[in-house]
Amino acid sequence: MSIQTISTTPVAGQEPGTSGLRKKVDVFQQAHYLENFVQSIFDSLDSVSGQTLVLGGDGRFYNTVAIQTILRMAAANGWGRVLVGQNGILSTPAVSCIIRKYEAYGGIILSASHNPGGPDGDFGIKYNISNGGPAPEKITEAIYARSQVISGYRISDAPDVDLSRIGQAEMDGMQIEVIDSVSDYAELMQSLFDFEAIRSLFSSGFSMRFDAMHAVCGPYATRIIEDELGAPKGTVVNAVPLADFGGHHPDPNPVNAAELIAYMNGADAPDFGAATDGDADRNMIVGRNFVVTPSDSLAILAANATRIPGYSKGIAGIARSMPTSTAADRVAAVLKIPCYETPTGWKFFGNLMDAGKITLCGEESYGTSSSHIREKDGLWAVLFWLNLIASTGKSVNALAAEHWSRYGRNYYSRHDYEHVDAGRANALITALREKLFSLTGRRLGSSVIDRADDFSYTDPIDASVSEGQGIRLLFADGSRIIFRLSGTGTVGATLRVYFDRYEPDKNMHDLDPQAALADLIGIAEEVAGITEYTGMSHPTLIT
Ligand code: G1P
Ligand code: ZN
Repeated sequence: MSIQTISTTPVAGQEPGTSGLRKKVDVFQQAHYLENFVQSIFDSLDSVSGQTLVLGGDGRFYNTVAIQTILRMAAANGWGRVLVGQNGILSTPAVSCIIRKYEAYGGIILSASHNPGGPDGDFGIKYNISNGGPAPEKITEAIYARSQVISGYRISDAPDVDLSRIGQAEMDGMQIEVIDSVSDYAELMQSLFDFEAIRSLFSSGFSMRFDAMHAVCGPYATRIIEDELGAPKGTVVNAVPLADFGGHHPDPNPVNAAELIAYMNGADAPDFGAATDGDADRNMIVGRNFVVTPSDSLAILAANATRIPGYSKGIAGIARSMPTSTAADRVAAVLKIPCYETPTGWKFFGNLMDAGKITLCGEESYGTSSSHIREKDGLWAVLFWLNLIASTGKSVNALAAEHWSRYGRNYYSRHDYEHVDAGRANALITALREKLFSLTGRRLGSSVIDRADDFSYTDPIDASVSEGQGIRLLFADGSRIIFRLSGTGTVGATLRVYFDRYEPDKNMHDLDPQAALADLIGIAEEVAGITEYTGMSHPTLIT
């Protein structure tokens, strides 16, 4: 076996987005495409010689091909050891957990998260650093810069490694350990939650449906919820990961997980429902005829954290992405702990956690987690809710209603306009940016805009500045409308418009969110001219 240096030329557009590099599968299949990007990652790191790398993906189409290529390149670039999940499978939270537990130098996650898979779907690759979290912008920018000047990559000509069996192998002096995909993660969950109490809950007849959406959480949820916590067989549905997610869009929101929602609204609904996404970092929590918004979920978990063994001493602080509702801020105020507002994307939480400033964090896009790892964690959130239900004896619906009556309710919704022409979408944002000054102080209907700005974030730990993170219209009554363009899409542009309205009055907590937000929705159209710019009179997705 020998190590070869292959000549290559830069490929345009290898710029990591909100969460790594995501493209259509056929883009990744182009000659040298994956290799160029992987070599750019390795070249952007300080010496990787002799270091440990964690490697795995969500099992989508092209996962195993990419893993074998990356193993050959890791060997050729001098990595000392690679921990790879059996059959190439590792969820995003599991990669984060394993990097931390074995003090690895970093990890590569192969996933396009909730984007559809299969030969016509999306593929993605993301680098995580030694704290277990996504590489910060300084590294992703270096990777991109490197990809634009790359002239060669190193790769071994060793044959494929058998990933089906747990055990050790060797490639050009590099150790390869094929590890059980679930064990390390399951052990971490056991250290945080009261498994005994959850076991008693299930043995007393409590029923649940967990929809793994044919994605990577299937094996994790089956092992933990059915095998360890004793939920009846069949509690986890769509549990076998498929390369194309069964043709579905593995995004746990009420639209894409419609089957679960219908089941939870039916006559035979179980007590509790949950779903996770392609790589198991997102989650949706569902009660009977009721879906918990991710923003509320973060606030409710924070308010009840001391009921959970892993958080019994309290939480240091909370962070939420800017578009996420301000429900968590009210909990933080009562607990007298800080609440940080960060740009969209998990990478902004890492520094705050490493510095011990926050314990819990979340995003409106069905992401919730804590400092136990440095990624969002779908199954962790589900176990947190199960633990909460077990310790309070209350249903999801009751826990949410009690929370609102104490803290007030944030009506919240996100409207997505997908597949918009990129030029038109950028023009809408540019036009908004140009009128920010004139919007401040303006009265629209019964609402007054207190402040209009383009969100900019200065990281409190390393003082790095991230500008242009979303147009905010902040109203005098605390309501907010936010406009931003997605950084994870692969076709055209996606405009996201976020609506957040606070309702303190207990008697007004049973409204339909779209009705409660109708005035704000009208204002967004009036101010931004969404229909004119996008050519769409309705969003393509409402969550
Ligand atoms: C989306 C979500 C964001 C999340 C990211 C990765 O990014 O909005 O909260 O961190 O996916 O899961 P966007 O497409 O909006 O850039
Ligand atoms: Zn995901």
